[in-house]
Amino acid sequence: MTLVLGVESSCDETSVALLDGAGGILASMVASQVEAHERYGGVVPEIAARAHLTNLPPLLDAALARAGACLDDVSLVCATAGPGLVGALLVGLSEAKGLAVGLGVPFVPVHHIEAHCLSPFLCGRAVEPARALPDEFLALVVSGGHTHLFRFSKGKISTLARTRDDAAGEAYDKVAKMCGLGYPGGPIVDRLSSGKAPLRPFPYAVPQFKDGSHDFSYSGLKTSFRNRLLARGHEPRSGGSTHQGPPQPLPDWLIEELASFQETVVSQLEDRLEKTRARRGPFTLTVSGGVAANSLLRTRLASWGEARSVEVLLADRALTSDNAAMIAFAGLRRHLHGTSSEGLEAIARSRWPLESLPGVDPPLT
Ligand code: KG4
Ligand code: ZN
Repeated sequence: MTLVLGVESSCDETSVALLDGAGGILASMVASQVEAHERYGGVVPEIAARAHLTNLPPLLDAALARAGACLDDVSLVCATAGPGLVGALLVGLSEAKGLAVGLGVPFVPVHHIEAHCLSPFLCGRAVEPARALPDEFLALVVSGGHTHLFRFSKGKISTLARTRDDAAGEAYDKVAKMCGLGYPGGPIVDRLSSGKAPLRPFPYAVPQFKDGSHDFSYSGLKTSFRNRLLARGHEPRSGGSTHQGPPQPLPDWLIEELASFQETVVSQLEDRLEKTRARRGPFTLTVSGGVAANSLLRTRLASWGEARSVEVLLADRALTSDNAAMIAFAGLRRHLHGTSSEGLEAIARSRWPLESLPGVDPPLT
């Protein structure tokens, strides 16, 4: 039996997972470092690397115990090689390479964004095989560093649209910071805006590019939000710690602004998807990355797809943020198709264009 070990350490989550040979998740353990970083209002690379070093050994033990397996059962080791924080990546990559060498099994370096793109094909909870990948699909990655729409076609990957400035998650984090809310901002804004109607008349616009591009842009929205706070006589907080916690209670007008901000984030995604559909016709779409956990995004993109016969596959909520299950899955797929261009010689990369990966022909098995 194939037992795939995945290791993720590209940013501020340490994660170890074990998958069976069909992509069924036997164990997926994540240690979040949010508490270690939140007083700084963002991820501190050196703290992240050190925390990975401490977190990895107990997570590996816990994953093996959860899967009822031992190290000798592992037949393939996969780890994130980039893009990410080099110091953080090196910790997981080195540990995973060491395990592969010690066990005498193959090692596959994994592209973190490819893993996000494929994560919606995994079944989040039960140990069920992964869904088969279609010959062609589009992948929307919405996270703290990415708001990108990719096309996977017969294994080749191309970028259809990307953010020209801030990523959607970055906008959430900056807006939350202005309001003195904690880090990361997305889940807090999501919770505060839940069930709240946006402002009428609606104050924010979805940006359009004069060149007809379908690229994303979130920096203007962030600035508009800031200006609206100022117009209300509310001085936006900036820089340094966001550890103050939310002002208690948050005024209704501020919650309405946050709900309107969130509405605009989602509207822009819908707008770009609608334009892509008009240009290309129907497609299968995967939606992944930290912001794909957002309640409004999930409801709205699911309805958008249903109304247009577009198959929208949202990553299971548990697999939206960084996790090693998606790393093991992406590595397994490349291993099965013999399209991992590198093995133990892989280096940690802070930048790594997804389009540079060699093609992979689906399906998984
Ligand atoms: O994919 P991820 O865990 O890390 C990377 O950026 O690679 O994404 C983190 C981002 C953060 O900006 C966070 O605020 C956002 O995802 N996020 C959310 C939600 N949960 C996490 N944004 C909106 N709604 C959420 N529920
Ligand atoms: Zn990520």
